[in-house]
Amino acid sequence: MITLSIIKADVGGFVGHSSSHQRILEIARQELKKCNKLTDFYVTHCGDDLELIMTHNHGIENEIVHKIAWDIFVKCTEEAKRLKLYGAGQDLLTDTFSGNVKGMGPGVAEMSFEERKSEPILIFMADKTEPGAWNLPLFKIFCDPFSTAGLIIDPKLHSGFSIEVHDVVEHKKINFKMPEEMYDILALIGQPARYVIKSVIRNSDKEIAAVASTQRLSLIAGKYVGKDDPVVAIRSQSGFPAVGEILEPFSFPHLVAGWMRGSHHGPLMPVSFKDANPSRFDGPPRVICAGFQLCNGKLSEPRDMFNDPSFDMAREKANRISDFMRMHGPFQPHLVGVDELEYTTLPDVLKKIKHRFEDL
Ligand code: F6R
Ligand code: MG
Ligand code: MG
Repeated sequence: MITLSIIKADVGGFVGHSSSHQRILEIARQELKKCNKLTDFYVTHCGDDLELIMTHNHGIENEIVHKIAWDIFVKCTEEAKRLKLYGAGQDLLTDTFSGNVKGMGPGVAEMSFEERKSEPILIFMADKTEPGAWNLPLFKIFCDPFSTAGLIIDPKLHSGFSIEVHDVVEHKKINFKMPEEMYDILALIGQPARYVIKSVIRNSDKEIAAVASTQRLSLIAGKYVGKDDPVVAIRSQSGFPAVGEILEPFSFPHLVAGWMRGSHHGPLMPVSFKDANPSRFDGPPRVICAGFQLCNGKLSEPRDMFNDPSFDMAREKANRISDFMRMHGPFQPHLVGVDELEYTTLPDVLKKIKHRFEDL
């Protein structure tokens, strides 16, 4: 069994919240290189989020692995403070590690599996958005035959997948068997601020197919500290959706919550690694995809999956949608709904005028 752990945090932005400083990435790489408890690792960033991609044989939710990540975030935060990077240590909500980084600020997605004869795996990383942003693409990848042809054509996919959904407000989970319960799952995951897809397994043999980070920083901290900027890992080919079927839903830059001050809807723009630096109005929200061909637990160098002209139209569309949404200024639906705004600094502004209201 090999375990893939992706643990990520915003430990400081360069410049503002737009990107990451090379020095921070270097420190993370140096620390992971020194550590002899992992099989392999890859360090990257999406915007201001530091992404630690690790393989090992300790299983999921393992204290050793979580401590490695936590210590790196602490060390990188020290350097971020020294360099006066913006929002240094913003995602570390506590300063004492207690066995698991869950609930402490960082985002986590982990899965254990037996490495196949060939194990292509895609890791998506987003900035300026929330975990529910994966709901629409994950639904299309694993449940929509108009997107994933294999659901119809390939007998290995034909029996469908089961999806675990988390209610991040009530802290509950529920499992849906697809395609039978398609209408039930859609009744929830169309509300991505509350219902978030956590993982996907294949019905025929219960093999794990995908796992996402579902941490919602504002719900943990009780206030807005920055967007969650989620990750999701998806296994591909030979009975799982093909690489191209996994990428296909991202050709539609759907509207997600996040962007400026975590309070605006905007399109999720698929970009190559070099373009993962959201700047216009602190956005628009971005997604990168690193493709790996696992080899005895080794990751090697990733392929930059959105570095492909076939996603140019999606990017252009995202820019057009950005213009259109921006024209709304402070009005909904560019501005997110009232529930979401509760966790921003807007309530403080409203407090000031509250006493001036008179009964009608
Ligand atoms: C979005 C984000 C930024 C900040 C904005 C204001 O996730 O982090 O859009 O909300 O730049 O930041 P502060 O309040 O730190 O000046
Ligand atoms: Mg930030
Ligand atoms: Mg971020």
